[in-house]
Amino acid sequence: KPRLYSGMQPSSGSLHLGNYIGALQQWRRMQSDNEAFFSIVDLHAITVPQAPGVLREQVRTLAAQYIAGGIDPSASCLYVQSHVAAHAQLQWLLSTITGFGEASRMTQFKDKTAKGGQEAASVGLFTYPILMAADILLYDTEVVPVGDDQKQHVELTRDLAERFNKRFGKTFVVPKPVILAGGARIYDLQSPEAKMSKSADNDKGVVWLLDEPARTAKKFRSAVTDTEGSIRADRAEKPGVTNLLDILSAMTDRPVAELETEFAGQGYGVFKTAVADAVVAELAPVRERTLELLDDPAELDRLLAANAERAAEVADATLRRTMEAMGLR
Ligand code: TYM
Repeated sequence: KPRLYSGMQPSSGSLHLGNYIGALQQWRRMQSDNEAFFSIVDLHAITVPQAPGVLREQVRTLAAQYIAGGIDPSASCLYVQSHVAAHAQLQWLLSTITGFGEASRMTQFKDKTAKGGQEAASVGLFTYPILMAADILLYDTEVVPVGDDQKQHVELTRDLAERFNKRFGKTFVVPKPVILAGGARIYDLQSPEAKMSKSADNDKGVVWLLDEPARTAKKFRSAVTDTEGSIRADRAEKPGVTNLLDILSAMTDRPVAELETEFAGQGYGVFKTAVADAVVAELAPVRERTLELLDDPAELDRLLAANAERAAEVADATLRRTMEAMGLR
């Protein structure tokens, strides 16, 4: 089976609908055809300030959401990045073959520092994509399912792997990003020209997996649309309606064109209610199961510790090979 690797940051208590559709839902569908590693990237989360006690809780909450969302921890390796020392070690090695200019071209760093300025950002936030490359390359990964915002980082990973192989001899597998067509980018319900994000200014635009169902439904009822009154996909002219169509398509596994036909001539109120119902039907059981799993944190910790050992076996072998290729050890 091909190796698959992906991860998410434990930088908030709950995943949002973009993470769910862009990542978790795809992971669930792909896990049986691949040998999958799913990490909770706490080392990435600390590139911006985190309160230690809160971070620890968020790691458990994210593990519970992975499992509740359908990741089978006995088939796939679900672990915490900082539990495997090789990630930080390989990151250093890779940083020595990454160009400063190359790293400076990462658009996510530019976006994340647009508000506060680059002077105020940590060096870790700047080198973040190199750590992500280390995550992927340690596991001889072939496929990396991510949302469209991570594509540039996977491209960097490919460049680094190819460069390293050329310079030091074949060491790394060159991975490919896998990006879902419809759900690659889910937008904010209140500002549908911006992607749904953990750090949105207005919470009404963000659908949290662990929100109460009534709250989720309300967010959909007040979603921003337009005044045209027709339900059709048009990203430029009708970003709100298009986003709702993408969401409904992901929830029901039906193509957007089919939904356009079904809702032709109907009002936005009816449409929004249908989207709300579909999202609640999908997320409510995931929320319930997450809360149940969190009732037994010791069991989650035990599972994460066991899986970290499995991950470390693979990662340590790759790290050793890499160091030897570079003339270290
Ligand atoms: P993170 O934690 O920001 O996001 C996790 C996943 O959710 C996807 N995503 C979205 N998809 C669709 N619409 C949206 N609005 C949306 N927002 C987020 C992201 O594309 C991602 O797939 N650097 C990564 C984590 C990471 C990683 C890795 C991923 C670290 N190492 C190795 C893959 C492989 C990140 O910060 O994702």
